[in-house]
Amino acid sequence: MNKLPMNVPISRTCLNEAEMESVLETLRSGWLVQGPKVEEFEQKWSAFTGAAHSIAVTSATSALHLSLAALGVGPNDEVIVPAFTWVATANIVENLGAKVVFCDIDLTSFNLDVDQLEDKITSHTRGIIPVHLFGLGAEIDAVMQVAAKNNLWVVEDAACGFGTKINGQHVGTFGHTGCFSFHPRKSITTGEGGMITTEDPALAAKLRSLRNHGAAMSQQQHKLSPRPYLLADHPLAGYNQRMTDIQGALGSTQMDRAAEIITERKHLADVYNKAFAKLPWLQTPLQIPANEHSYQSYACLYQSKLITSASIKNINKERNAWMDELQNAGISTRPATHAVHMLSFYRKKYRISAEDFPNAFAANECSLSLPLFHGMTDQEQSYVIDCVLRKE
Ligand SMILES: Cc1ncc(COP(=O)(O)O)c(C=O)c1O
Repeated sequence: MNKLPMNVPISRTCLNEAEMESVLETLRSGWLVQGPKVEEFEQKWSAFTGAAHSIAVTSATSALHLSLAALGVGPNDEVIVPAFTWVATANIVENLGAKVVFCDIDLTSFNLDVDQLEDKITSHTRGIIPVHLFGLGAEIDAVMQVAAKNNLWVVEDAACGFGTKINGQHVGTFGHTGCFSFHPRKSITTGEGGMITTEDPALAAKLRSLRNHGAAMSQQQHKLSPRPYLLADHPLAGYNQRMTDIQGALGSTQMDRAAEIITERKHLADVYNKAFAKLPWLQTPLQIPANEHSYQSYACLYQSKLITSASIKNINKERNAWMDELQNAGISTRPATHAVHMLSFYRKKYRISAEDFPNAFAANECSLSLPLFHGMTDQEQSYVIDCVLRKE
């Protein structure tokens, strides 16, 4: 057992020489905006996920935003969003002038509690955004059934879902669209960046146009057209949410070791799972055989006793003290994510209290992510394990 103190970050970007060289190559090529490298990345993404169409954009937030814009979300519409997720999932609904309707989560998976879904549907509901949080697939079959029964669309927030499969099918390919993130805390990164997947060719064409100011053709198509000196038409009022070719090169090259990255993350999670199996106070990530977790994060629930409205304050204090202790030992941790309904904008606008979504509240107060990233050394991991076990 390693007792020497060391610094272990919550996550560390780990790029190899080929990945870094691909960026330099693109810089040398003179074509920096969305072009051949983005297209190559999109093709590899489709091959990897099995999606019919992949559309690279500037972030998962852009992916979600464009998806909802393409599906026509606007004022008077309601969209169902889990109460425990990154704020972006709700913000894009707000930013299109629609109403966010929160649904509580299941505390063992941190994902949408599908049993509560139907109660949230009104005549204004247009769609559902299930989130595959931390790399564990949401109960997508149940979500799709509720959506089909009520004529709603489904946009999967698969920001954390690189490599997550449900019954062998990659997340992001069940709903109308799937939205992925390449932020550095995700399993592959382009600095900032995102990808939309869809099976619908008409929706794909609309999304491609919307990311490029609503233009009838991409800049590359325009450049290669017979009369590139004439400007293209813009049949839609779109946005600029194009990924650069610098990012495209970085993403495309990382795809060549996608399987290796996922295997390494699963191995790290396995080592943690075994080490922490006998700690009654630490709920480790849920394992479901048909639902392949890809461990974007190793999100746990600290529960020194049963979490109730009477005990939650104390458990939260203990969790924070434990986070301080780990930080002092050089180990970075984070609350797994936040309960969006508790953030001041949503709390005030919708007049909601923390207790309205008790499981999201509990996750907000008692969750904790431990360091897990590909490129993490055995020495770093055994140091984290040592410090966690020493708490007992
Ligand atoms: C669940 C979820 N949705 C959306 C996002 C937004 O991703 P991006 O930073 O690429 O916009 C994140 C990022 O952390 C996320 O975790």
